[in-house]
Amino acid sequence: MFFSTVPRQFCISDLNNDLIETYLSVRDSWNKVESVMKKWEISKDNYNKIKSYKPRNKINKAARFIWLNRLCFGGLYRVNKHNKFNVPYGGGDRNPNILYKNKTLKKVSHILRTSENSKLTMEVVTADFENVILKAGKGDVIYCDPTYSNVNRGQFDRYGSIVFDWNDQIRLSQASLLAYERGATVLISNGKFPELLELYPSAYRIALSKKKTIGNTSQNPMNHTEYLFILDPQKRTELWRAYSKTVNSKMSQGEYQNTQIK
Ligand SMILES: C[S@@+](CC[C@H](N)C(=O)[O-])C[C@H]1O[C@@H](n2cnc3c(N)ncnc32)[C@H](O)[C@@H]1O
Repeated sequence: MFFSTVPRQFCISDLNNDLIETYLSVRDSWNKVESVMKKWEISKDNYNKIKSYKPRNKINKAARFIWLNRLCFGGLYRVNKHNKFNVPYGGGDRNPNILYKNKTLKKVSHILRTSENSKLTMEVVTADFENVILKAGKGDVIYCDPTYSNVNRGQFDRYGSIVFDWNDQIRLSQASLLAYERGATVLISNGKFPELLELYPSAYRIALSKKKTIGNTSQNPMNHTEYLFILDPQKRTELWRAYSKTVNSKMSQGEYQNTQIK
């Protein structure tokens, strides 16, 4: 969402400090990060070596974070209780080469730095979502992409230390509603759980059903439905209906299976 809209002013935030530090290192030293990554041979053996390697500086940390993400199973991020990354090797056609070919890190760095000297707000921060949403007001647009959870998701589970549980879902809906009342437009992608409908009674809702693959191959995609909740103080029903139609037309190209707007 962020890289396809490229807002002039922004605040990107996440509770995962390793992820935010990666953004900052790419912003400030993309070429150093890329040259470290390029030195690492792409193989299962080397993946396991880099997985156990503990980098001491920010450049190597960022290189390791991105490199492992491109080679691990399904691009997952999961750590054990000692905060150690523990996703196995993915195999298949997903690897870091596409980043070098498309100059992705250079482009990301450029977007994060644009108008660095101006007075525009351009923040990349480690924070809980509530603290960031609190700052939003009239005219701002908030996009949240929480980890999907339903009422049964508790504090401890297989995804490690940062768990987005049902209490977080309630906090997110309340913070979003307050921001909406202050005049911000809020978009939230979420899982297709019926309980969520009660948290967003006044939101437009679009159901997106797309083909998703598990693991690192493009074989055997499965249908996967998600909700997009939209809180729009300007109540632009037509705009969201049109958006819904655009997504629908992508559906006929095989990207999305069905779309509807409430
Ligand atoms: C589905 S991922 C979003 C990934 C992101 N859209 C991206 O493309 O990189 C959900 C994210 O929520 C973050 N998260 C979990 N709890 C959070 C919290 N309380 N505040 C802020 N971020 C949180 C996780 O660290 C994770 O990166």
